[in-house]
Amino acid sequence: MTDVTQVTQGLTLLGATGSIGASTLDVVARHPGRFRVFALTAHRSADALLALCLKHAPRYAVLSGLPEDAALRRRYAEAGCRSELLFGAQALEQVAADPECDVLMAAIVGAAGLAPTLAGARAGKRLLLANKEALVMAGPFFMRAVREHGATLLPIDSEHNAVFQCLPQEAAQSSGRASVAAVRRIMLTASGGPFRSAPLERLSRVTPDEACAHPNWAMGRKISVDSATMMNKGLEVIEARLLFEVPAERIEVLIHAQSIIHSLVEYVDGSVIAQLSNPDMRVPIAHALGFPERIDSGATPLDLAAIGQLSFERPDAQRFPCLGLAYAALREGGTAPAVLNAANEVAVAAFLEGRLRYTAIPQVIEQALARTPASAADSLDTVLEADRGARRAAADAAALLMGKAA
Ligand SMILES: NC(=O)c1ccc[n+]([C@@H]2O[C@H](COP(=O)([O-])OP(=O)(O)OC[C@H]3O[C@@H](n4cnc5c(N)ncnc54)[C@H](OP(=O)(O)O)[C@@H]3O)[C@@H](O)[C@H]2O)c1
Repeated sequence: MTDVTQVTQGLTLLGATGSIGASTLDVVARHPGRFRVFALTAHRSADALLALCLKHAPRYAVLSGLPEDAALRRRYAEAGCRSELLFGAQALEQVAADPECDVLMAAIVGAAGLAPTLAGARAGKRLLLANKEALVMAGPFFMRAVREHGATLLPIDSEHNAVFQCLPQEAAQSSGRASVAAVRRIMLTASGGPFRSAPLERLSRVTPDEACAHPNWAMGRKISVDSATMMNKGLEVIEARLLFEVPAERIEVLIHAQSIIHSLVEYVDGSVIAQLSNPDMRVPIAHALGFPERIDSGATPLDLAAIGQLSFERPDAQRFPCLGLAYAALREGGTAPAVLNAANEVAVAAFLEGRLRYTAIPQVIEQALARTPASAADSLDTVLEADRGARRAAADAAALLMGKAA
C-alpha cells in the first residue's frame, strides 16, 4: 500500500536501456507512489527507449548519440509516446540538473557519463552512482563538487554499497559519506569472473562471448570484460579510496566465487562486518533509492543452507595483471586513474570487436600509462585532456600489438 504522506521523487535515469537501467526501473515500478520517472536516456537505442517511455511515461526522453531527427520524433508520437524527445549529449546534462530531478541514477557506461554525472553533483542532487568510470576519472575533483554543492552520493556498485552499509550509520546518514577512523581494512570481494580457474595458456585465445559469460551476474558487455580481467575490481579499489577516504594499502581484494558476500569492513577491535545477499543488482539499487529507509527490491531471499559453502582466495597477480595496474595508477594519483580508465575502455572495445587478444588488454593499458605522464586532476579540462591523450596512446599501442599478432 502506498504511503499518501510520502513526497514523490522525480527520477532521472541516465543509461535507462542498460542492465542497471532495467534493474532500476524494476525497483521503481514496485513503488509507484514514491517515484515519478522524470527523464530516461539512451545513447542510440531508439526502439528500446521508446518501449520504456510507453511504459514509464517520463517527461523527457534523451537519445544522446543521435542528432536531431524529425522522423524519429514523429515515430515516437505516432506510437503514443507523450515524452519530449531530446537529442545530443548536452541534453544529458540538462535532464541531470533539472530542478524536477530529485534523484539521479548515473548508469551510463564509461567516460561518457562524467559530464552529466558532474552536472548532477553541481546541482546538488541525490546521486546514485553506478558509473564508476566517472568517479575514477575525475577523482578528488568530482568529490569536491559533491561536497561544495551539497549533493548526496550513494554507491550502487554492490561492493561499495555493501561497505557503505557496513560503516557506522550515523556517519553515513549525516553526509552520505562515512567516517572511517576506526576502520582497519576494507575488503572488496570479487567473483574472479569466468576465467578464475581457466588454464593460463588458454587466455590468449578466449573470445568476447566467453569473457562476457559471467558466472554470477548478468551485466553489460564492457563491465563483463572488466570483471573477467579484474580491471573492474581495480576501478573499484580506486572508487573505494575516493568514497571512503581509506588509504590504498588498507583496501584489499578477496576472491569469493559465489558473490554472496558483497564486501567486508574490519574495525580496529578485530570485528568484521559484511553485507550479504543473492547476486542481484536490485538489492543495492533499492537500498540507495530508499535510503535511509529499506524498501522491497524484488530479490529472492538468501538461502544460506541451500548455498552450503562460501569460499575465499587471494587474487593471482599473474592471472589478473590489470589489478596491479589499477593499484599503480592509484598510487601515482593525479590524472593516472583517468589514463588507466581511458586506456582500458579502448582496449576492451578493441577486444569486443575482435581486433585485440584478451591478454593484450593489460599490455595496452601499461603502455598507455607509461606514455602519458600524470598531472594534477584539478579541473574537468585537465581530466578530459588526459582521457584524450590516453586514448591516442592506447590506440597506438593496440595497433602495434595487433600488427605483431597478425
Ligand atoms: N551491470 C551491472 O550489474 C553493474 C554493476 C555495478 C556497476 N555497474 C556500472 O554501471 C554502469 C552501466 O553498466 P551496465 O552494465 O548497465 O551497462 P550497459 O548495459 O552496457 O548499458 C549502458 C547504458 O549507457 C548508455 N550509453 C552507452 N554509451 C553511451 C554514451 N557514449 N553516451 C551516453 N550513454 C551511453 C547505453 O545506451 P544504448 O542502449 O543506447 O547504447 C545504455 O543505456 C557502468 O559504469 C558499470 O560499470 C554495472
